[in-house]
Amino acid sequence: MAKFETQVGIVGAGPAGLMLSHLLHQQGIASIVLEAKQRSYCEERVRAGVLEHTSVEMLRDAGVAKRLNREGLRHEGIELGLGGQLHRIPFVELTGKAVTVYGQQEVVKDLISQRLSDGGDLRFECGEVSLHDLEGDCPSIRVEKEANVDIVSCDYIAGCDGFHGISRSSIPPRALTVYDRTYPFAWLGILAEAAPSREELIYMHHERGFALYSMRSPRITRLYLQCKPDEDLAEWSDDRIWSELHTRLGCSDGWRPTEGKILQKGMTGMRSFVVEPLKFGRLFLAGDAAHIVPPTGAKGMNLAFADVHYLAEALREKYRDNNDAKLDAYSATCLSRIWKAQRFSWWMTSLLHLFDDASPFDRKRQIAELEYVTSSRAAATSLAENYVGLPLD
Ligand code: FAD
Ligand code: PHB
Repeated sequence: MAKFETQVGIVGAGPAGLMLSHLLHQQGIASIVLEAKQRSYCEERVRAGVLEHTSVEMLRDAGVAKRLNREGLRHEGIELGLGGQLHRIPFVELTGKAVTVYGQQEVVKDLISQRLSDGGDLRFECGEVSLHDLEGDCPSIRVEKEANVDIVSCDYIAGCDGFHGISRSSIPPRALTVYDRTYPFAWLGILAEAAPSREELIYMHHERGFALYSMRSPRITRLYLQCKPDEDLAEWSDDRIWSELHTRLGCSDGWRPTEGKILQKGMTGMRSFVVEPLKFGRLFLAGDAAHIVPPTGAKGMNLAFADVHYLAEALREKYRDNNDAKLDAYSATCLSRIWKAQRFSWWMTSLLHLFDDASPFDRKRQIAELEYVTSSRAAATSLAENYVGLPLD
């Protein structure tokens, strides 16, 4: 059995765990990151694509935005589609802020490379992780791989292991309150080798279901279709996907998405989920380990960054001034922002999707809301300020 000691043990090398480890390093606080998967899996997993203004600033302040500054696509607005007509929500005009399209796996690559060049201790394919003595002064992480057992003793543990990780489930259920809502649909997403033929993202309301036109780079388009929650991907040939995308995204001015080779296909469930509190003894949850939003508001990765921003600040005050106040307030501080992002993600989802059980009244109300958002500067400003990201402090 090998024994290790560190100040903060971090479970998970997604955006939350990697960013936390980097922020702590900048403050002279040591950490070990334990990741179940291979490095290549973390660097290649296609997920989020939109960085809030707030996240871009955080990555810049942390000195990890060199490639983001070069390759990220600055978007000054989005388009909302209704009845084949597009209506632009001009973020910069309404809020003074923009968002940046830059793939999550690119952020992850940048953070891994920075941590490794700073001599960071990242352990990929670490084996089976379990958490111990969370309520004592010296919690530990046990890592078991084949016949080897490592024990990592820490001052604090950060559970950054996503929705299916072990951190949240290491907390006794009696200590947590769960808020959960599932939606009666999913997203079928594709990545296509096609140059974006539109400058901004299109969120399209359609009588056959929602569709989203997004992108990753000047060569790659990302597209999504609302589908059944239990949709069988095998029933979606490339031709069927393109035909449905043309039907839903086609605009009255004749614009259609440009087709290209489909590089990747996947299904994403839609869920709103929060546990409270985000702290149990010396374990702190951050990112998807504590909350999930439906992707319509593009908030998941951004919320993960906000959580670790607060956690790094709190740990800095603890180590520098021996002050526990921010650590004690961590959960409440994060939850106030998390619930606002939950509300926004739920609202964008309700605004744009087809609900099978919607009454004729519900459908009329939904259209009226879309017409309102696309015609009132006040309503559009509310959407814009949430989309670009609420301030951190
Ligand atoms: P994760 O990225 O899930 O990372 C957790 C890590 O922990 C993983 O590497 C995992 O392998 C590891 N792990 C799990 N269990 C263990 C264990 N037992 N031991 C060790 N390691 C473990 N968000 C946005 O902000 N904008 C978007 O545009 C957006 N679009 C999305 C589109 C899709 C299709 C999907 C699926 C998500 C989208 N999201 C978006 C959400 C975003 O991807 C997540 O919120 C984000 O990945 C959360 O980061 P995280 O670090 O908390 O968790
Ligand atoms: C994406 O590009 O993957 C994306 C963009 C906006 C969203 C969700 C996903 O709301």
